[in-house]
This record gives sequence, C-alpha cells and structure tokens, in this order.
Amino acid sequence: MESFTATELFYSFENGEDFIILDVRNEEDYSRFSIEGPVDVLSLNIPYFDFIERPEESVAKVPSDSPVRVICAKQGSSEFVRDVLMGLGRENVMFLLGGINTWGNVLIPKRINCEDSSYELWQFNRPGKASCSYGLIYGVEMYVFDPSKDGQFYVGFAESRGAKISHTFETHLQADYISGSAIIADLVGATFAAHPGDFSGSVYDYHPLSDGEVFNFNDESAPVVQVVHSPGHTPGSTTYVIDEKFMLSGDTVFIVSVGRPDLGKQVVAWAKTLYATLQERIMVMPDDLLVLPGHFTDWSKEADENNRIVNDFGTVKRINEEIYGIDKEADFVAYIEANMRAQPEIYNQIRKVNSGLLTPCETEQGVMDLGKNECAASANIV
Ligand SMILES: [Fe+2]
Repeated sequence: MESFTATELFYSFENGEDFIILDVRNEEDYSRFSIEGPVDVLSLNIPYFDFIERPEESVAKVPSDSPVRVICAKQGSSEFVRDVLMGLGRENVMFLLGGINTWGNVLIPKRINCEDSSYELWQFNRPGKASCSYGLIYGVEMYVFDPSKDGQFYVGFAESRGAKISHTFETHLQADYISGSAIIADLVGATFAAHPGDFSGSVYDYHPLSDGEVFNFNDESAPVVQVVHSPGHTPGSTTYVIDEKFMLSGDTVFIVSVGRPDLGKQVVAWAKTLYATLQERIMVMPDDLLVLPGHFTDWSKEADENNRIVNDFGTVKRINEEIYGIDKEADFVAYIEANMRAQPEIYNQIRKVNSGLLTPCETEQGVMDLGKNECAASANIV
C-alpha cells in the first residue's frame, strides 16, 4: 500500500504498530499543529524543500529501521517525499491521503454504554482537536451533542445505525472549533438546541434551552436528557445529564481541570459564576455519574483502557482536588487568575462563525478550525 487515511492512522496508533511520522510541512506549521495520538508518537519534521535541495542528506536523517508515514499540508508534497525515499532505496513508506486537514477533522466513534442497553451512547473523539462530541440513539432517532463541522459524518453515522438526527444540542458557544449544529440542522431539518445565554445574538433559528427542561424522544421508556444550566466557562454553558447515569459536561467539567472562565475577558465575574456553578449545581451530582467532557488535554491521564475519555465524577473530583477542594470564592478566583494564559486570536472569529455572523468559505474554515483546543482552566495540573 502506498497511502493511508487519517482514520487508519488512528487505528495504527491504537494497535501499537511500529512506524515513524515524517512531517514535511514547514517548521512553523509543524510547531503550531502536529499529530498527537493515544500513544507516544514518534515524529520527525524535515521540510519538503530539504528533500528537493538535498535529497540524499535529507533521506539519511530518516531512521531506516522503521516504516515511515509521510504527512504534509495537502498530500502532494508527501507523495513527492515518499517517491524520493523509495527512489533512494527505502521500503515501507506511505503518505497521508488528503493531508493534515484530514487528520485534524477525523472523528473516531467509541460506544460508551453497554451493548445490551435499550439505547446507544457514542463518543466521537476528534484527536486532532482533542475534543469530543456525542450521539444518543433511541429507536430511529439520534440526538447529537457538540458536533464538529463535518456535519455529514454525523448524518452518515446516524444512517449507519438506522436512525436520523432529530436534535443537535450545543453545550455552549464554542470558541475553539467550528460547530456542525447549523450544518446538521440544514442537512436533515434537526432542531438546533442551545442556551440563550450564549446564543441570543445568533442568527440561527434555534430552540432556546431552559434549566430543568427535559428531552426524551417523546417516549416514556426512552432515556431522559436533562438540561442543567451551568454557567461559568460561558454564560450559557449547559450540562446534559443522560438517563441519570452520564454527565455530558461540555467545557464545565473536564476529567483533568475545569473549563476556563477567562475566555470572555471578564475573568473575575465569570470565575465567580463558575465557582457558584461548581458548588451549587455540579458538586451536588452523584459520584457515580460518568463524566463525558467536551475536551481533553492528555490521553495518558484522561482516557480509559479503550481510549474513551470518561471517568466517574467521584474520581474526577479526587483527581482535581486542587480545584474542588477550594471552599472560598476568593480563593477560586485567585486560582483562576494564577492559571490564566493567552487565548488564540482566532477564537473571536470562531465564535462569530458559530453564531452565524461570519460565513467564511470552506478553505478559510479549515484553516480556522485546525489546532488543539485551549479550553482547560489549568494547563499543568497532574
Ligand atoms: Fe469551550
């Protein structure tokens, strides 16, 4: 085989296959965004131009004892570099079909609840963004939560399970990736549901969620989705409790850390709101709820043995004792201020796209959407 897809790359990591990644983009693009996976990635950056100007010397820098997977921006350069390597006697060299963007967008479905349940709960991991979206299927209906911009993926996934998307829910107005909710609503006529605290300025026709509202597929034996307004990361942040078993927490609760309340540039006010939310709305939830977050930072600390980003709330509180142990508002605000860091400039633009106020072309969206998230309140908590 001469090429591989981004999905195949993920499963190659997961299967523990032996190979090195040769990324031939320029150093700046490589340092901004490179491939990370559920295992340690052996990755080497040698720009494409080096293979044109000094082919022998460049090939000599590539270890010869492992298969090589070449990656570039759009595919053409990695095909070229593969040919250079093969022309100089290397074997087992493949290139990534479609370039790095395909990795940035790839979604890996993982079943969360047990197979014999009356419903299906899926986590869609987007390794390139370190983010998670979700699907809840009951009968022929599917609810989607926080979809990425590849709306067609979710529509196709629902079809593959004999269902159709009826609702697409947002946990908040995302700043770090372009949401697929508007696209899904357009494609299949699904109801776009979100909290007005974040979406009142949106041009989309959305269903305004209210605290305590429930959704149950209009069937009494279906799993109940309960809406819990949990402001702090954003004013409209919403947590969904599913079947009293799962806490779909968006960017409020992560397995490690909590969602940053400083992205709206009102650090003290939003940090106070987040403190109240954690104390009054989140910490009162049962310890055995399984937390399903919107993001993660580190596979090794946040994934289970099946590479699902999930843990029970009791364990989450223990892991983050540094945060949940704070019992004074002022101390919590001080903690947030001490952990603040810059947010990418592009976040403002992405918020506008997710409100429908800005409609960049597909290529521009691809550029805006690439790169790992910066949503956790603390980067270095163990
Ligand atoms: Fe967020």
